[in-house]
Amino acid sequence: NNPPWPAFRGYHEYSFAHATMGVRLPTILGKAIDDAARTLNEQSSEDLIIDLVDCLERMDQLMADLSGNAKLRPIIDDGEADVPLWNKEIAKYFQGKDFMNAPWLFAEAYKYRRLHECFSVSKYWKGYDVFYRQKCDTFSRSAEAVFELSTRFAEPFKPQENIPDAERLEAERLMFLELTQVCLWGNATDLSLLINMTEEQIKSLQSTGGDHLAATEKNILGNHLNRLWETVKSLREKTGGRIDFVLDNAGFELYCDCVYADFLIQSGLAKQVRFHGKRYPWFVSDVTKKDWEWLLNTMVYGHLFPKASEAERESLRRLGDRWKATSLQQYEKEGKWVYEQHPFWCTGYTYWDLHSEAPDLFLHLSRSDLVFFKGDLNHRKLAYDCHAPASTPFDVAIGPMASASGAPRVCSLRTIKSDVVVGLGDDGDLISEKLDKQEPGWKISGKYAVVLLSEGRPG
Ligand code: F6P
Ligand code: MG
Repeated sequence: NNPPWPAFRGYHEYSFAHATMGVRLPTILGKAIDDAARTLNEQSSEDLIIDLVDCLERMDQLMADLSGNAKLRPIIDDGEADVPLWNKEIAKYFQGKDFMNAPWLFAEAYKYRRLHECFSVSKYWKGYDVFYRQKCDTFSRSAEAVFELSTRFAEPFKPQENIPDAERLEAERLMFLELTQVCLWGNATDLSLLINMTEEQIKSLQSTGGDHLAATEKNILGNHLNRLWETVKSLREKTGGRIDFVLDNAGFELYCDCVYADFLIQSGLAKQVRFHGKRYPWFVSDVTKKDWEWLLNTMVYGHLFPKASEAERESLRRLGDRWKATSLQQYEKEGKWVYEQHPFWCTGYTYWDLHSEAPDLFLHLSRSDLVFFKGDLNHRKLAYDCHAPASTPFDVAIGPMASASGAPRVCSLRTIKSDVVVGLGDDGDLISEKLDKQEPGWKISGKYAVVLLSEGRPG
């Protein structure tokens, strides 16, 4: 049950796989080691220090394996629910494979799993997140865009009264389109690509104003936004009205996801939103439960933005309060916002295998009216991270996630940061060839995006 196109691998010098496996991953791991060393230097208890020194030694070993292109060994049984999934996949498909000749997607995911193992087998540092400082820091440097949204949405979205229905619907449609783009472009600030960003760079990636959005829509190369609106509009009449977000990055992207989800609930378009996060640090900046809680708490109690005005701070508090203290608990009690973390999300499987390897999760998602997959990695997983032509229709590229019985309706909101590009329409191959010539780095810059919808197949 595989696609007919070859998967990218680290030794493919023409692909981003090569630079990622050879240069980016060792750089990311080096920074992770620096972070753990910094934490070590802050400790006073000998037990904790000795235990963390062991974690650092395991990280050094991982660095040696990665730079020396070692063969992939099984994951140590550290009690995580995903161990059987990992070791089954290694035994079945990747025996004897090394970091460079295993499929890129698998080898890259494996590195993050091994990094987690460095801590999960320890006594005191099981839950340590080497990327946590970086995630918090980037959000604190996103002030401008954060306040632009909080000042606009502190007051919950309410459809205007006393105007004709058609006008009200049009206002809602425009708001939907704008916030879908806010949610989409929120993905541009993933930290695995943008190490050491300046405040200026962050700002240019995060402008959220209306004019800017009109201009950026032309960079959405596969664009199902209008179909998406028709779909979401029809949910209001449904008894279910459940929307799922398979989350990507913490901090600013998560904040944008929540602004969007808040709008979907406040406007009555959806009755429930379920968020799916990761169980441990993943691809640098992906959302864990701790990141989720940090965001909501920092919005309400944090002192992150010393230069902000009192009105700005108040708007962020109000928004956070609505999501958390009053509304989040209320949302959670009423089942309006639910946070989940299935083990399958932190494995090396693509979503072509979701229905067979995690049937419980597949069934769960099949009950949703719409599942948003955020970001580049989720997109790679949907499309098997293989060399499909850019004209391949999205629902063909995602295989069983569109065609298996019970496949949910799926929407990928992704800024393009790696080789897989599908769903660009009949002229897709031409568009892609032209960009290859004119803008050689277009597949990794995050300047372009796709918003692609698949209707799924009701079971
Ligand atoms: O290392 C490459 C990669 O896996 C790409 O998919 C992307 O550049 C990045 O890491 C993760 O991006 P995102 O956070 O959008 O999934
Ligand atoms: Mg990510």
